[in-house]
Amino acid sequence: MGLTKIAISDFRNIATAELSFSPQLNLIAGCNGAGKTSLLEAVYFLGRAQSFRTTHPSSVIREGAEGLLVTGQVTDRYSTAIPVGIQRDKTSIRVKMAGRPVQQLAELVVCFPFQLLTPDSHQLLEGGPRYRRRFLDWGVFHVEPAFFPAWQRYSRALRQRNAALKARALPQEIRLWDTELIAAAQILDQQRRDYLHNLLPVLGRYATGLLVDIVGLGWEYRPGWPRKSTFAEALEEGIEGDRRQGFTRIGPHRADLIPILDGQPAQERISRGQQKQLVAALMLAQAHVYQTHQGRPCIFLVDDLASELDDEHRNCVLQHLRSLGAQVIMTAIEEEAIDGSIWPEQRRFHVEHGRVEEVIY
Ligand SMILES: Nc1ncnc2c1ncn2[C@@H]1O[C@H](COP(=O)(O)OP(=O)(O)OP(=O)(O)O)[C@@H](O)[C@H]1O
Ligand SMILES: [Mg+2]
Repeated sequence: MGLTKIAISDFRNIATAELSFSPQLNLIAGCNGAGKTSLLEAVYFLGRAQSFRTTHPSSVIREGAEGLLVTGQVTDRYSTAIPVGIQRDKTSIRVKMAGRPVQQLAELVVCFPFQLLTPDSHQLLEGGPRYRRRFLDWGVFHVEPAFFPAWQRYSRALRQRNAALKARALPQEIRLWDTELIAAAQILDQQRRDYLHNLLPVLGRYATGLLVDIVGLGWEYRPGWPRKSTFAEALEEGIEGDRRQGFTRIGPHRADLIPILDGQPAQERISRGQQKQLVAALMLAQAHVYQTHQGRPCIFLVDDLASELDDEHRNCVLQHLRSLGAQVIMTAIEEEAIDGSIWPEQRRFHVEHGRVEEVIY
């Protein structure tokens, strides 16, 4: 279950590469600048049609090439093999799954339940609310089929309300969109709360195991409007401000989930290494809930686990990944930094100047 193979052409410094993956551990090793993160990025690209390192679509195309191609095969919950392929040139992208064009990213996301842990993952704590919202919504999306349609309804109503605000429409014209906006917002908010009800106890257990020195960590969910009022009341109260600014300033599109320690946002109180432990706890907890709900594990893409984690915490994360039974695709500068002995089935790859070879050991 998971990603069984990938073929890459002209992605970053990788001219061509073909890999068959183990359903358990896959370790990609090589020195600085070899192409390890690029390989992981290509895997992510296959599942998201975008990069986790850049928003410039053409910067992932190998220098001097016209376009890139990444193809692969993923197995679904019934172990059916599904071919997926993405072709991108400097101006356009084509995504195909099971032989037909993919219209919506959501179709890919369902097939590739990834958790991504990289040296930049502290953004989840230190970055703006959108990082944590995206994290939260990934979880809700995968366990609650009604979430995505509600999100689409909400986004449509929000776009229309914002267009009316920008066009300096009268309050009664703006209010025309509120019924739909409020109805969709209620669904999103309730589903996020229901999801958190399941996630937070699991998260508490992972966080306690990984952050032994941190006591009393809590989580605050902010729905996207002041807690003292309903969304309908807050929307009405804020209509003049929205008209002045030309957009809707509150709503589920502004929600946040904040870790709290001693009454303050935890990210201000904990070290970089502890942040990484906390992010790992978040991802493990989310994968746990996903697995309980879906009956199959997530795929973990892990770039340079060794950065900021000492031996003990690294091994603790590895043990948790093994217990979950997740497929892991992981990079490391030093292969020895990863204790693979706990995985009966593993594959190791060596990358050098963008060339990938499987290591028989
Ligand atoms: N579009 C591109 N075309 C060709 N080469 C590229 C492109 N984008 C990046 N590179 C190069 O690809 C190489 C591999 O980068 P990558 O980040 O994958 O290395 P890495 O193995 O993860 O290294 P590190 O251990 O430092 O993290 C770098 O030398 C980079 O300059
Ligand atoms: Mg790297």
